[in-house]
Amino acid sequence: MKEKLNKIAKDTNIFLKKYLKSQKKTDLIIPMTYGLLPGGKKIRSKILVDIGKIFRINYQNLIQIGAAVECIHAYSLIHDDLPCMDNDSLRRGKLSTHRKFSESTAILAGNSLLTIAFEILSNHSLRLNNKIKISLVKLISECSGHSGIAGGQYSDLRFEKKKISLKRVIEMQVKKTGKLFSFCCMAPVIITNKKNYLKKFDKIGSDIGLLFQIADDLIDYSGNTQKVGKKTKKDLKKGKATLISLLGYKNTIKYSDKLKLDIFKRLNIFGKKAEDLKNTINYIIARNK
Ligand code: IPE
Ligand code: IPE
Ligand code: MG
Ligand code: MG
Ligand code: MG
Repeated sequence: MKEKLNKIAKDTNIFLKKYLKSQKKTDLIIPMTYGLLPGGKKIRSKILVDIGKIFRINYQNLIQIGAAVECIHAYSLIHDDLPCMDNDSLRRGKLSTHRKFSESTAILAGNSLLTIAFEILSNHSLRLNNKIKISLVKLISECSGHSGIAGGQYSDLRFEKKKISLKRVIEMQVKKTGKLFSFCCMAPVIITNKKNYLKKFDKIGSDIGLLFQIADDLIDYSGNTQKVGKKTKKDLKKGKATLISLLGYKNTIKYSDKLKLDIFKRLNIFGKKAEDLKNTINYIIARNK
């Protein structure tokens, strides 16, 4: 699994570097590149490739779509670290973008990484027909805006230091993190035009994303800053509404184990073809960074 992840991360980085190089040299390119590369596990790209394998999608197309996802993800992290949000100074083992440059620079570099994702998806180098490209751009927009990342981040901040029900915490985490995973799980289905599978993979994606966020919260609780590359033990201090704050550490682990088994059950119909995806899901909950 680790080897496959490294290969996908490498190929994604190659694509992104080349793409940024082909852009006009602007002043914002420097902070954009800083927030995007290097570092980042590229787990969302791995999920795309895993599902792509089930539906036999062209690898290079998946890498290009994954690159767009990673731009949106990097934008969300740059903004997440801002003083008006989580106020974090360390990201991927280095100064967060606003600390390295300035707040306004970080906001604008983040905005530009968000819009570059749409450029990458609509680019002629992506070998898909225009109808499919429009569907992908539409879906990634939905997953990033008020009913996805931005909406979830809004709730995350509003919920600080408040008693929030389990149902609402899960809804918030599905939006802020799950929806981008939904996109990764649905994109290969859109490309193969197997419409009756869309709903199933929307849900599998949001559950994998939820699992990913729960694992991130567990790492914040018990992880080591050095290893993780970002400050840990901050969620408690900030009064973040998480499963840990509601259920405690041990029960949160139990919850994630159960969720994992539930996802695995739904993947069984794909037999051996879903093996890579299952390995990635196992990695998501076992990781320590
Ligand atoms: C961190 O995401 C933010 C969450 C959604 C929990 P990742 O853990 O995927 O961050 P990188 O890309 O590997 O740095
Ligand atoms: C962020 O969640 C999720 C995003 C969509 C950016 P966190 O705030 O827990 O992410 P980290 O721990 O700072 O990476
Ligand atoms: Mg946050
Ligand atoms: Mg944060
Ligand atoms: Mg976190």
